Amino acid sequence: MRQFSPEYLRRTRQGLWDGSREALDPLSLADRKRILDAGAGTGELARVLDAESPGQVVCLDADPDLLSVAHGETGLDVVVGDATRPPFFRDAFDLVVCQALLVNLPDPVAALRAFRECSTDLVAAIEPDNSDVGVDSTVAAEVTLEQRVREAYIAGVETDVALGDQLPSLFREAGLTPVATRRHYHRKVIEPPYDEESMAAAARKARGDALVEHETELRRALSPDEYDVLRDEWREMGRAVVEAMREGTYRRAEVVPFDVVVGRVDGGA
Ligand SMILES: C[S@@+](CC[C@H](N)C(=O)[O-])C[C@H]1O[C@@H](n2cnc3c(N)ncnc32)[C@H](O)[C@@H]1O
Repeated sequence: MRQFSPEYLRRTRQGLWDGSREALDPLSLADRKRILDAGAGTGELARVLDAESPGQVVCLDADPDLLSVAHGETGLDVVVGDATRPPFFRDAFDLVVCQALLVNLPDPVAALRAFRECSTDLVAAIEPDNSDVGVDSTVAAEVTLEQRVREAYIAGVETDVALGDQLPSLFREAGLTPVATRRHYHRKVIEPPYDEESMAAAARKARGDALVEHETELRRALSPDEYDVLRDEWREMGRAVVEAMREGTYRRAEVVPFDVVVGRVDGGA
């Protein structure tokens, strides 16, 4: 199982649901009584669920360290366990939802089947489409290098990290009836005046942190020489970003699409 740090989850989810939450409408959060956030990590989605629903929100994850952050920061109930065999009674929830979990599982249908067992009504998945990320930058090399890294990562990762458009058929395979499909866009912009977060992101680029975070997957897709060349070019690009920030000329925009699919359990309300 791929490990995630609390810092990575906080950084990559920042602002995800700060704007429009329209894509969550089909989850009928205002009507829910008990919600399970499966693969909750540090509770980035659970906080949104808790804010939007009068129901009780429970966080499930295989990583106890992430859950302790979730509990410490939200006070929500947390349970350590495997999302493909959730430690709950049948029909314990009226919504089981996951965010960026299925893209990390070798058998996403097994998880969806397990969610169906736990829910009396709805199951939902919110999954990033990593093959359709858009980046624009005043440092041209950033656009091409991010594209190269993304392609190598998708080729080297052992799960399907771009399964968005297959979600409805995965739901059907798991015995769920898809009732709504939405797309939500996570937009991030860096522009002057730069905040501390943006400066830290540039410093991470100059150090090549992103390549280290994904080194296992990248090395599966690239030869040792290709990896070394990519890392050197990446760091050089990072230094150009830092320099452009010093001059106040750097601007970057990124859009990460998330597919939101909601399915009904047969016989649900
Ligand atoms: C990319 S993170 C997403 C976390 C959170 N949902 C979010 O959007 O920030 C994937 C999470 O799934 C958890 N995970 C991976 N495989 C799991 C499994 N089989 N059972 C439970 N949790 C799992 C990881 O520990 C991690 O917290």
